[in-house]
Amino acid sequence: MEEKKKDLLRRLTIISIPFVFIAIPSIVIIVGMLSPHAAEPRDQSSPAAPGRNHSVSMLSTMTGGQMILSCRTAFSGNWEYFHYFILDPYKPQRAFFQPPPPPPNSAAAVPYAILCKWGYMGNFLQDVVVFNSSAAYAPRCRVEEGGCHYLFEDGKMFLVTGRRATRAAPARRREKRLVGDVVLRECAHVLGVFPTVCRYKPHEHNYVGKIIGRWRWWFNY
Ligand SMILES: *[C@@H]1O[C@H](CO)[C@@H](O)[C@H](O)[C@H]1NC(C)=O
Ligand SMILES: *[C@@H]1O[C@H](CO)[C@@H](O)[C@H](O)[C@H]1NC(C)=O
Repeated sequence: MEEKKKDLLRRLTIISIPFVFIAIPSIVIIVGMLSPHAAEPRDQSSPAAPGRNHSVSMLSTMTGGQMILSCRTAFSGNWEYFHYFILDPYKPQRAFFQPPPPPPNSAAAVPYAILCKWGYMGNFLQDVVVFNSSAAYAPRCRVEEGGCHYLFEDGKMFLVTGRRATRAAPARRREKRLVGDVVLRECAHVLGVFPTVCRYKPHEHNYVGKIIGRWRWWFNY
């Protein structure tokens, strides 16, 4: 009798192993995927209505290393992953997006923004806004208007919009305006004995985002 009980217990243990290591984690993952934390991805396959297709592109001419922008869209109190830009110096990247159209019985569009976390050589910023449907420049980010181009140059971030004038369209012009500065540090080895001393480089304009640490960069939006 005692032997039988032990045997039963042993069997139950063996049967329960797949549940503990496979079934329960699977349920946790499936429930996590189904839970309504993110909005439904919109259908990207059908072409956008005229005027709805927008783009942002990024270009870094800072040669200290790769620059990373991890971007999300924010709209109606919700957010969704947008794009992860990994920028090698002088290699532009472009991403397309389609802000939602205004609701049927309202003239005003739903506020829609794209915010990025920015990282470069151990310096990090968050809430770098690269699109805001309420801003004056928003219509210029339309693909037909040429899109919005961000340029990172000498510690500054610029927004370049418009198209170069051509013989067919002489009224066109390209505009470059300063958005602000990015955070950079300079480090010095003092006599090679003391730990490296770093300080923020002096900057002339407001930072384009909020300074965050490496930890926040990896784990927070
Ligand atoms: C947006 O425009 C780009 C470039 O013209 C095109 O490749 C893309 O398919 C368009 N996206 C939509 C949803 O229309
Ligand atoms: C977008 O612009 C509007 C109007 O300028 C401003 O109130 C809002 O805070 C901006 N949103 C973001 C995310 O910067």
